[in-house]
Amino acid sequence: MDYIKYLEEEHAIINRVLNRVEEKCVSIVEDNKVDIKFFSTFVNFTREFTDQVHHAKEEGILFKDMVEIIKGPAINVINHGMLVEHQLARHYIASLDENIAQYIEYKTPLAKAQILANALSYVNLMRSHSKKENDLVYPFSERMFEDDTKEMIQEKFDDYINSKANERKQKRKDQLLKILEN
Ligand SMILES: [Fe+2]
Ligand SMILES: [Fe+2]
Repeated sequence: MDYIKYLEEEHAIINRVLNRVEEKCVSIVEDNKVDIKFFSTFVNFTREFTDQVHHAKEEGILFKDMVEIIKGPAINVINHGMLVEHQLARHYIASLDENIAQYIEYKTPLAKAQILANALSYVNLMRSHSKKENDLVYPFSERMFEDDTKEMIQEKFDDYINSKANERKQKRKDQLLKILEN
Protein backbone atom coordinates (compact mmCIF):
# COMPACT_ATOMS: atom_id res chain seq x y z
CA MET A 1 0.00 0.00 0.00
CA ASP A 2 1.10 3.57 -0.71
CA TYR A 3 3.01 4.71 2.39
CA ILE A 4 1.08 7.95 2.84
CA LYS A 5 -2.20 6.04 2.67
CA TYR A 6 -0.78 3.57 5.18
CA LEU A 7 0.11 6.32 7.67
CA GLU A 8 -3.32 7.91 7.23
CA GLU A 9 -4.97 4.58 7.98
CA GLU A 10 -2.93 4.32 11.17
CA HIS A 11 -4.20 7.79 12.11
CA ALA A 12 -7.75 6.50 11.64
CA ILE A 13 -7.07 3.63 14.07
CA ILE A 14 -5.51 6.04 16.58
CA ASN A 15 -8.50 8.38 16.25
CA ARG A 16 -10.91 5.52 16.99
CA VAL A 17 -9.07 5.00 20.27
CA LEU A 18 -9.06 8.74 21.06
CA ASN A 19 -12.86 8.78 20.70
CA ARG A 20 -13.09 5.94 23.24
CA VAL A 21 -10.78 7.79 25.64
CA GLU A 22 -13.03 10.82 25.43
CA GLU A 23 -16.08 8.66 26.23
CA LYS A 24 -14.29 7.16 29.24
CA CYS A 25 -13.38 10.66 30.47
CA VAL A 26 -17.02 11.73 30.20
CA SER A 27 -18.02 8.71 32.24
CA ILE A 28 -15.59 9.79 34.99
CA VAL A 29 -17.44 13.12 35.14
CA GLU A 30 -20.96 11.79 34.69
CA ASP A 31 -20.88 8.47 36.55
CA ASN A 32 -17.83 8.99 38.76
CA LYS A 33 -16.36 5.79 37.32
CA VAL A 34 -12.64 5.44 36.57
CA ASP A 35 -12.10 2.46 34.28
CA ILE A 36 -8.57 1.59 35.38
CA LYS A 37 -8.22 -1.37 33.03
CA PHE A 38 -9.19 0.83 30.09
CA PHE A 39 -6.77 3.66 30.92
CA SER A 40 -3.88 1.26 31.61
CA THR A 41 -4.52 -0.49 28.31
CA PHE A 42 -4.66 2.90 26.59
CA VAL A 43 -1.20 3.78 27.99
CA ASN A 44 0.12 0.49 26.56
CA PHE A 45 -1.56 1.16 23.20
CA THR A 46 0.07 4.58 22.87
CA ARG A 47 3.48 3.07 23.61
CA GLU A 48 3.25 -0.19 21.70
CA PHE A 49 1.31 0.99 18.67
CA THR A 50 1.25 4.79 18.37
CA ASP A 51 4.93 5.14 19.32
CA GLN A 52 6.59 1.88 18.36
CA VAL A 53 4.66 1.33 15.12
CA HIS A 54 3.31 4.65 13.83
CA HIS A 55 5.76 7.23 15.17
CA ALA A 56 8.59 4.77 14.53
CA LYS A 57 7.90 4.94 10.78
CA GLU A 58 7.48 8.71 10.79
CA GLU A 59 10.59 9.39 12.85
CA GLY A 60 12.73 6.58 11.44
CA ILE A 61 11.80 6.83 7.76
CA LEU A 62 9.59 9.62 6.38
CA PHE A 63 10.53 12.54 8.63
CA LYS A 64 14.19 11.53 8.66
CA ASP A 65 14.27 11.58 4.86
CA MET A 66 12.32 14.86 4.73
CA VAL A 67 14.93 16.55 6.94
CA GLU A 68 17.89 15.04 5.07
CA ILE A 69 16.61 15.51 1.53
CA ILE A 70 14.31 18.57 1.57
CA LYS A 71 16.34 20.31 4.33
CA GLY A 72 15.43 24.04 4.95
CA PRO A 73 11.64 24.23 5.41
CA ALA A 74 11.38 20.55 6.39
CA ILE A 75 13.80 21.02 9.29
CA ASN A 76 11.46 23.60 10.79
CA VAL A 77 8.23 21.64 10.22
CA ILE A 78 9.68 18.34 11.47
CA ASN A 79 12.27 19.12 14.15
CA HIS A 80 10.51 22.13 15.66
CA GLY A 81 6.96 20.95 15.00
CA MET A 82 6.09 17.30 14.60
CA LEU A 83 8.88 15.84 16.77
CA VAL A 84 8.19 18.33 19.56
CA GLU A 85 4.54 17.24 19.53
CA HIS A 86 5.55 13.55 19.66
CA GLN A 87 7.61 14.35 22.78
CA LEU A 88 4.76 16.31 24.37
CA ALA A 89 2.42 13.38 23.69
CA ARG A 90 4.87 11.00 25.44
CA HIS A 91 5.02 13.42 28.37
CA TYR A 92 1.21 13.38 28.76
CA ILE A 93 1.25 9.57 28.71
CA ALA A 94 4.06 9.33 31.30
CA SER A 95 2.02 11.67 33.55
CA LEU A 96 -1.17 9.70 32.94
CA ASP A 97 0.65 6.50 33.88
CA GLU A 98 1.69 8.09 37.21
CA ASN A 99 -1.85 9.41 37.80
CA ILE A 100 -3.27 5.89 37.32
CA ALA A 101 -0.78 4.44 39.84
CA GLN A 102 -1.67 7.24 42.30
CA TYR A 103 -5.37 6.62 41.83
CA ILE A 104 -5.01 2.86 42.39
CA GLU A 105 -3.01 3.48 45.57
CA TYR A 106 -4.85 6.42 47.18
CA LYS A 107 -8.09 6.98 45.22
CA THR A 108 -7.71 10.75 45.65
CA PRO A 109 -9.92 13.22 43.78
CA LEU A 110 -6.73 14.94 42.59
CA ALA A 111 -5.47 11.75 40.94
CA LYS A 112 -8.85 11.41 39.23
CA ALA A 113 -8.75 15.03 38.03
CA GLN A 114 -5.21 14.55 36.72
CA ILE A 115 -6.26 11.43 34.79
CA LEU A 116 -8.87 13.59 33.04
CA ALA A 117 -6.41 16.43 32.42
CA ASN A 118 -3.66 14.31 30.92
CA ALA A 119 -5.90 11.93 28.97
CA LEU A 120 -7.83 14.80 27.35
CA SER A 121 -4.67 16.81 26.70
CA TYR A 122 -3.33 13.79 24.82
CA VAL A 123 -6.60 13.39 22.88
CA ASN A 124 -6.64 17.06 21.83
CA LEU A 125 -2.97 17.11 20.93
CA MET A 126 -3.04 13.92 18.87
CA ARG A 127 -6.20 14.85 16.98
CA SER A 128 -4.75 18.13 15.81
CA HIS A 129 -1.34 16.53 15.23
CA SER A 130 -2.58 13.83 12.89
CA LYS A 131 -4.85 16.30 11.08
CA LYS A 132 -1.83 18.55 10.48
CA GLU A 133 0.11 15.59 9.12
CA ASN A 134 -2.72 14.46 6.82
CA ASP A 135 -3.53 17.96 5.55
CA LEU A 136 -0.13 19.65 5.45
CA VAL A 137 2.97 17.63 6.30
CA TYR A 138 2.41 14.53 4.15
CA PRO A 139 1.22 16.54 1.10
CA PHE A 140 4.25 18.84 1.54
CA SER A 141 6.56 15.80 1.34
CA GLU A 142 4.69 14.57 -1.74
CA ARG A 143 5.24 17.91 -3.48
CA MET A 144 8.91 18.14 -2.56
CA PHE A 145 10.14 14.58 -3.20
CA GLU A 146 11.23 13.34 -6.61
CA ASP A 147 9.67 10.09 -7.80
CA ASP A 148 12.80 8.02 -7.09
CA THR A 149 12.85 9.29 -3.49
CA LYS A 150 9.22 8.24 -3.06
CA GLU A 151 10.09 4.80 -4.41
CA MET A 152 13.03 4.50 -2.01
CA ILE A 153 10.78 5.43 0.95
CA GLN A 154 8.12 3.01 -0.25
CA GLU A 155 10.70 0.20 -0.19
CA LYS A 156 11.70 1.06 3.38
CA PHE A 157 8.04 1.03 4.41
CA ASP A 158 7.41 -2.30 2.70
CA ASP A 159 10.42 -3.85 4.47
CA TYR A 160 9.14 -2.60 7.80
CA ILE A 161 5.54 -3.65 7.17
CA ASN A 162 6.53 -7.14 5.99
CA SER A 163 8.91 -7.78 8.92
CA LYS A 164 8.28 -10.45 11.57
CA ALA A 165 8.58 -7.77 14.26
CA ASN A 166 5.78 -5.78 12.65
CA GLU A 167 3.60 -8.88 12.40
CA ARG A 168 3.98 -9.35 16.19
CA LYS A 169 3.22 -5.69 16.85
CA GLN A 170 0.08 -5.82 14.68
CA LYS A 171 -1.22 -8.83 16.62
CA ARG A 172 -0.57 -7.01 19.87
CA LYS A 173 -2.37 -3.92 18.55
CA ASP A 174 -5.42 -6.05 17.69
CA GLN A 175 -5.46 -7.48 21.25
CA LEU A 176 -5.28 -4.00 22.76
CA LEU A 177 -7.98 -2.66 20.43
CA LYS A 178 -10.29 -5.47 21.49
CA ILE A 179 -10.06 -4.29 25.09
CA LEU A 180 -10.28 -0.59 24.23
CA GLU A 181 -13.27 -0.94 21.90
CA ASN A 182 -15.13 -3.46 23.99
FE1 LIG B 1 3.37 12.36 14.02
FE1 LIG C 1 1.22 10.55 12.48
